[in-house]
Amino acid sequence: MNPLTGRRTFLGGAAAAVSAASFSGGPLSAAPGDREIRTAHIGIGSRGTALLKQVLTQRNVRVAAICDIDPKARDAAQSLAHRDNPRSFTEYRRVLELKDVDAVAIASPCDLHAEMAAACLDAGKYVYCEKPLGITPEQVDLALKASRRAKTFLQIGQQLRYMPGLRAVIAQIHNDKVIGTPFVIKAQRHSTPVRPEADAARPPWYLDPKRSGDLIVENAVHNIDVCNWVADSRPASAFGHGKRYLPRTVPAGSIMMDGFSVEYVYENDMHLDYSQLYLHPRALKELANGQWYMVFGEKGTVNLSNGIFYDITGAAEPRELIPPDVRDAGENAMSEFFACIREGRRPFAGIEVAATAALTAIMGREAIYGRRMVTWKELGVTL
Ligand SMILES: NC(=O)c1ccc[n+]([C@@H]2O[C@H](COP(=O)([O-])OP(=O)(O)OC[C@H]3O[C@@H](n4cnc5c(N)ncnc54)[C@H](O)[C@@H]3O)[C@@H](O)[C@H]2O)c1
Repeated sequence: MNPLTGRRTFLGGAAAAVSAASFSGGPLSAAPGDREIRTAHIGIGSRGTALLKQVLTQRNVRVAAICDIDPKARDAAQSLAHRDNPRSFTEYRRVLELKDVDAVAIASPCDLHAEMAAACLDAGKYVYCEKPLGITPEQVDLALKASRRAKTFLQIGQQLRYMPGLRAVIAQIHNDKVIGTPFVIKAQRHSTPVRPEADAARPPWYLDPKRSGDLIVENAVHNIDVCNWVADSRPASAFGHGKRYLPRTVPAGSIMMDGFSVEYVYENDMHLDYSQLYLHPRALKELANGQWYMVFGEKGTVNLSNGIFYDITGAAEPRELIPPDVRDAGENAMSEFFACIREGRRPFAGIEVAATAALTAIMGREAIYGRRMVTWKELGVTL
């Protein structure tokens, strides 16, 4: 129990004992080159179906198996993938035994990702795992250790890493030093209140923080990962506040929050100020709604979302950093997953990105629940 709030937190004494040796990517299995790659899909609800559709468009890839505890989900997936006539399973461990499966896409509820990903890696499968990698430090550590043992790799479903426009802007911050030394990131994800019908339509695991990891881990992990990427560092500490505001106020920890703010200080001394609120009136334009990131540096500020650079002196007009041919290019996370398998490369959003993002979000959540500053060291996972 948390001594301040009396509520259960995820960061118990056990977490402090968790320790993982540094990750070092060993040699990967021989690349399969151009031969057919066969996939299995565990968890084929809303996101799993979207991933299955993406996989069905990949060249020389066949869907060999589908797995879900829900018969309706299995039926729907079998219809969708009828071209490949996949076998159907209820128990995910059966998929591990399938010798003709090379790669597994995991889109189960968040609390199952780490266990399933670790088991798939141990069985010699390549893994495309939905975010977050885990919702506790222990889960993250489990997947990390499996990844260290494996001759295959895990790519995390943090597809913002595969947006060509975002990549182009971040490369200009990192390589071309367009804003000089970056100092501060302000990032936000605001929207109008969640409609009660939309909440009711959610699967039960989603609203339960013990299964989803809460809003910051399930949802904001995407945005926070973009901030980690820009910062090119990881947070040393976090402090924050949040709760469920609507339809009635409930303290953080028992039902998914609908608003929080968190402040991270990075190891390189950058800081991130992130807020997510489902309280943003549509007519409120002075503070932009939606998702955005501003990176403030020595020479100016970049709005990551539209790639506009603002000179700090005001002497130069704002200018666009994203080349026109890249501006509208869509994300390519799934095609990159298969390209990495074929070419024997490790993915850009691999295990370290996955673990760092999940731990950053977990650290923020624990700071919110505990109403105190939480440090990276307390998580007890060495990356
Ligand atoms: N990357 C993204 O943009 C994105 C978007 C949405 C969701 N997600 C993530 O995808 C995951 C799934 O979300 P969703 O919205 O599809 O949820 P969902 O509830 O629609 O789907 C989850 C599926 O997993 C199945 N499942 C549960 N336990 C299982 C088990 N033990 N073995 C096999 N199947 C099991 C359920 O029956 C269900 O069909 C979540 O982790 C979520 O955070 C990612």
